[in-house]
Amino acid sequence: MGFDERAKNYDTRSKEVRAKVLGEHLVAQWKKYPTFPKSILDYGAGTGLVTIEVGPAVDVVYAYDESKPMVEKFKEKLTDRGIENIKPIDDIEDIPEMVDCVLSSLVFHHIDDVAAGIKMLLKYLKPGGLFSLIELDTDDGTFHGDSINFTGHNGFDRTWLKEQFEACGLENILIEKCYEGDKMIERKPHHYTMFSITGQKPEA
Ligand SMILES: C[S@@+](CC[C@H](N)C(=O)[O-])C[C@H]1O[C@@H](n2cnc3c(N)ncnc32)[C@H](O)[C@@H]1O
Repeated sequence: MGFDERAKNYDTRSKEVRAKVLGEHLVAQWKKYPTFPKSILDYGAGTGLVTIEVGPAVDVVYAYDESKPMVEKFKEKLTDRGIENIKPIDDIEDIPEMVDCVLSSLVFHHIDDVAAGIKMLLKYLKPGGLFSLIELDTDDGTFHGDSINFTGHNGFDRTWLKEQFEACGLENILIEKCYEGDKMIERKPHHYTMFSITGQKPEA
């Protein structure tokens, strides 16, 4: 089942709890850089679980996702909660300004060509801005064992992902563990860990 079909029931209590931890972690990580971002592009924002957690820390978040049903669910949440500084965009090219930070949480393991994905997103990032991913550590395939037709990466080796960042010109790279938990797969708990990786686009 893809994200279009999962959108309606995507949010669960455990994903909400995890998103809160991830949001707090990201804000703490961004504080370690000289300038805290005011504007964010959240790429693959889904139903906005993480977006809604980081939103209060910044002026504006532009949120894009290729799955329209995920975006519809996200828009309902924004309306229900009266959130005004998170702006879903239908087409990434519609973003009205370059941003201080690009964030992508649990999306890049769905993207075949990681370096091409990073380079595409760097077009929207200001010089000196931050590029942050949340990702799964390398996994034996069990994590996505319940996803039919999953053809992405079974998590990432942190060193390999850092090399992709460096090859794309990102500097001052920081990698930190940000979450661990259990996912029930065929009624058995599967333990997994996640990390964040942030790099800075060189000043022009
Ligand atoms: C696992 S969900 C994560 C959603 C959200 N970032 C979070 O952390 O809760 C992955 C999301 O990435 C989106 N996605 C996957 N590949 C994408 C791509 N190439 N471009 C944009 N969105 C993508 C999916 O539609 C889905 O909403």
